[in-house]
Amino acid sequence: MKTGILGYGSMGKMLLQKFYESGVVAKEDLYVANRTAAKVQEAAAIANVCTNVEAAKACDILFVCVRPADIKIVLDEIKDDLKNDAFVVSLNGSVKFEHMERIVKCKMAKVIPSVTAEIGRSQSLVCYNELVTEQDKAELTKLLATIGDAIELPENEMGMGSELASCMPGFIASIFDVICRSAKKHTTIPDEQIVKIVMNTMSATGELMLQKNMTFEDVVNRVATPGGITMEGTKVVYEGFPETADLLFEKTMAKRRATAKNAEDLFK
Ligand SMILES: NC(=O)c1ccc[n+]([C@@H]2O[C@H](COP(=O)([O-])OP(=O)(O)OC[C@H]3O[C@@H](n4cnc5c(N)ncnc54)[C@H](OP(=O)(O)O)[C@@H]3O)[C@@H](O)[C@H]2O)c1
Repeated sequence: MKTGILGYGSMGKMLLQKFYESGVVAKEDLYVANRTAAKVQEAAAIANVCTNVEAAKACDILFVCVRPADIKIVLDEIKDDLKNDAFVVSLNGSVKFEHMERIVKCKMAKVIPSVTAEIGRSQSLVCYNELVTEQDKAELTKLLATIGDAIELPENEMGMGSELASCMPGFIASIFDVICRSAKKHTTIPDEQIVKIVMNTMSATGELMLQKNMTFEDVVNRVATPGGITMEGTKVVYEGFPETADLLFEKTMAKRRATAKNAEDLFK
């Protein structure tokens, strides 16, 4: 299947690399375009470097990997050159199908990968418009398998889904950054060692839960024996952290609504 990537930034580059490395798309079937053509020349060894229009003419599936403000520009540019059965996949969660469909009425999906795609462990969120068939879904899932798992959600849940999958590495990193900074105040263990210990514990705890089918509560109960030292700490978290967590989601969801509104305005 001829596969095009429009936008050779962080996401476009990552997808191109994974599609190529995995061999799921042959080099001659991979097309890539970027606004600043000079930047994408480096991809010539692994794909056909071309324009958006050339990619639209050639490809069965097109990944639109540009920022929300540029999506309308790209769709306007390619709308008359798409193949009859073209499948357009937007990497952006904020721009709705109903707005993109005002410009191009074709098979569409939205895919939100997460940074863990770098190690093949993305939980990519996917939603589809009503024109997409089960076979199209299977084709897209096969491509997304090169970066991890695909999780289908309804379009209206892509926002919260993104907080849980795509934003979560940032939330996790910031929470543990705060914990490490606090730990540093109470110890002479070198900073680097603190971070390494916490990082490995964090990763191993996740792996333990996955392998042994444990919940967060299971882990807490296993480690925090009644009246013990761990429980002193977990009590503090359960008493003090819910307010911060509520605020975190209130803020991110408000920002998401504002971003969606700005994106919507571009399509008016
Ligand atoms: N980064 C993430 O972790 C992440 C995760 C999930 C979803 N997303 C979504 O993925 C999309 C891309 O994000 P990104 O982080 O990859 O952005 P990025 O690094 O800024 O890359 C965007 C690329 O699009 C190119 N571009 C802009 N207008 C274009 C046009 N008309 N035709 C062709 N190429 C064009 C830009 O070219 P220039 O070289 O000219 O600037 C740039 O290379 C966004 O909608 C974002 O919300 C990102």
